[in-house]
Amino acid sequence: MCGIVGYIGEQEKKKIILDGLKELEYRGYDSAGMAVLKDDEITHFKSVGKLENLAKKTKDFESIGFGLAIGHTRWATHGKPTELNAHPHFGKFSYIVHNGIIENYQEIKKELISKKYNFLSQTDSEVIVHLFEENLKENEPFIAFEKTINTLQGTYAILLMTKAEPNKIFFAKNLVPLIIGKNDKKEVFFGSSDTPLIGLAKDVIYLNDKDYGYAQKDNIVIYNGKKPKSLEWNKLSISKLSAQKDGYRFFMEKEIYEQSSISNETLMGRVLKDDIKFENLEESFFDDINEIKICACGTSFHAALTSSYLFERISKIRVSVEIASEFRYKESLLQKGTLFIVISQSGETADTLQALKIAKKAGLKTLAICNVDNSSIVRISDKTLLTRAGIEKGVASTKAFTTQILVLWMLSLKLAKNKGKISKAFLENEIKNLLKVPTVLKVDEKIHEKIRRLSKRYLHGHGFFFIGRDIFYPLALEGALKLKEISYLHAEGYPSGEMKHGPIALADSELFTVALMPKNTLYEKTKSNVEELSARDATILAISPKTFDIADDFIKTKDHDHPMLEFLEMGVILQLLSLEISIRLGNDVDMPRNLAKSVTVE
Ligand code: AGP
Repeated sequence: MCGIVGYIGEQEKKKIILDGLKELEYRGYDSAGMAVLKDDEITHFKSVGKLENLAKKTKDFESIGFGLAIGHTRWATHGKPTELNAHPHFGKFSYIVHNGIIENYQEIKKELISKKYNFLSQTDSEVIVHLFEENLKENEPFIAFEKTINTLQGTYAILLMTKAEPNKIFFAKNLVPLIIGKNDKKEVFFGSSDTPLIGLAKDVIYLNDKDYGYAQKDNIVIYNGKKPKSLEWNKLSISKLSAQKDGYRFFMEKEIYEQSSISNETLMGRVLKDDIKFENLEESFFDDINEIKICACGTSFHAALTSSYLFERISKIRVSVEIASEFRYKESLLQKGTLFIVISQSGETADTLQALKIAKKAGLKTLAICNVDNSSIVRISDKTLLTRAGIEKGVASTKAFTTQILVLWMLSLKLAKNKGKISKAFLENEIKNLLKVPTVLKVDEKIHEKIRRLSKRYLHGHGFFFIGRDIFYPLALEGALKLKEISYLHAEGYPSGEMKHGPIALADSELFTVALMPKNTLYEKTKSNVEELSARDATILAISPKTFDIADDFIKTKDHDHPMLEFLEMGVILQLLSLEISIRLGNDVDMPRNLAKSVTVE
C-alpha cells in the first residue's frame, strides 16, 4: 500500500512531486522516491523514512523546464524499508513507480533472471520495469507496455517513464486507485487520490480497473481491453482543506476537537423536524430488505458492531457484522433480501472493497458508508451515504468513526420508520437527541486537562482492558484499538460480563481497566463487573456520570438521558486518553509505526 504521483509540464517538478507525496503520506511512509526525465536525462532520488528525508536529499536539485516526473511513498509489503527497495525502480533507461502487489512476480522474475536481468531490490514491483525493457526489444514502447501489463497478475497502479519515449508517461490501473488530471496549461497530473491534484488540475479522470494508456502534454489515451476509450472528464471541485494543524499539537488532536462542528455537516439536511432524509436514497431502497449484513475493518468494524445493536433494537431487522478480511474467504451464504453495507473511512480498504465485490456478484443490494467521495468503494456501491468528516489525516481514526456512528444511528431510524417499527413520538425524541450531538461532542477543556494529568499513571503496567456492555462494548474495542495504535501498549476491549470467564485471571494492580459505565445502559451490571475487578486489585479508571468511589481514577461525564449521547461523549474521552498517553510516551501520534492510513493491500 503506497501512494504514487506523476507530472508532465514546465513547472519545478521536484516541488510538485514532493507536495503531492505529502498529501499521500497517509498511505505509507517508510520510504519515498522520485525520478525526473528532462532533456533526455533521468535523475532519481530515494530515501528511507518520512518524506522530509527525500526533501533534504533533493534540496539542491532543480528541474524547471519541460519534463516528466514520477514519485512514490511506500508502505513495505515485499522487502524491508530500504533505499534499494524504495521506488522508483529502474532498468537501463526506464523507471517505474507501483502501488499494489504483483502476485506472479516470482515467475516473471525467474524468467527475467534467466535472460540476465539484474535485480537490485526484493520487491515484487521491480519486475515491471525489466519486463517492459525486455518487451521493448521487439516492440515499440506502447505495445511493450501493453504486453507488460497483460502479463501482470494482481493489483497495480503503475506509472512508467522511459528514454525510449521521453515525452510520455505510461500508466495502468487495476484494483487500486489512480487518477489523471489536466489543466488549461496542458499540464498532466497523476495521483493515487485526488488530493495531490487539488489546486493544480481542473479536470480529472478516475481510471477504471484494467485501464491503461499513456499521457503527453496535449494528449491522453486510455485503453481498456485493446480498445481506446472516450475520455470522461470530471470537474475537480473540492477545495483544498487547510493542511495546517491550527495550533494543535497533532492532526489527531485537531480532528478530535473538530468533531463537534463536523457533526453539523453530517446531520445537515438529513435530520428534519420529524423525519430523517438521506440524499440520493429513495424511500423504496429498503422495500425488499429483510436482513442486513455489514462488513468493515478496524475502527469502521467497531462502528458496524455498534450499529448492529441499533438496527436490531430500533429497526427490528436481523443484522450480522463481519470483519471484511474474514468474510472474503468464508463463502458466506448470501441471500437476496439482504442489504449489504460496507463501512470505510478511506473507501479504498482492499478487504472491504473485495467484500463489496463479492456481495455485488451475489446480486445483493449494496450501500457504502464512506468518507471519501469518488473512492473505489463509493464508485462500486449501489448507493452511498457520505460521512462528511472532511479529510482525516491522523492515522488513528477519530472524526471518521464519530461520523460513521451518526450516519448509522440516522440510518437505523430511517429504516425503522420506513418499516413502521417506531412511533412518531419515539422518532421525534431521537431527533431531539440527534440535534444535541454537536454540543455533546465539544471537548470539555477541564476533562481534557484532567486526562492530560492522569495519563501519567497509565504509561506502564502489563496491559489495559477496556470494558463495557451493549453499544459500550464496541466502544471499548475502539478505545483499546486507539490506544494500541498510537501508544504501542497492549490493550484489549472486552464485554464487561465476559471478564469473569477468563481475563480476570490477569487482574492485579498493574492491570489497568478503563470501565465505561453509562447511566442509561446496564449501569448496575457493569458496576458489579468493575467491583469484581477492583476486589482483585486491578487499577480502575471509571468513566461515568455517576460518582464511583472505588475507582482509582474517575472521569465524570455529563448527565445525558440518551445512551447514544453518553456513547459519543465517552468516545471523545477515550480518544483524548490515547492521545495524551501517546504524547507522554513521545510517539509520533499522527504517523504511528507500522501503520498506514489507507490499507489497500490484503
Ligand atoms: C483506525 O484508527 C485504523 N487506523 C484502522 O483500523 C482503520 O479503521 C481500518 O484500516 C479501516 O479503514 P477504512 O475505514 O478506511 O476502511
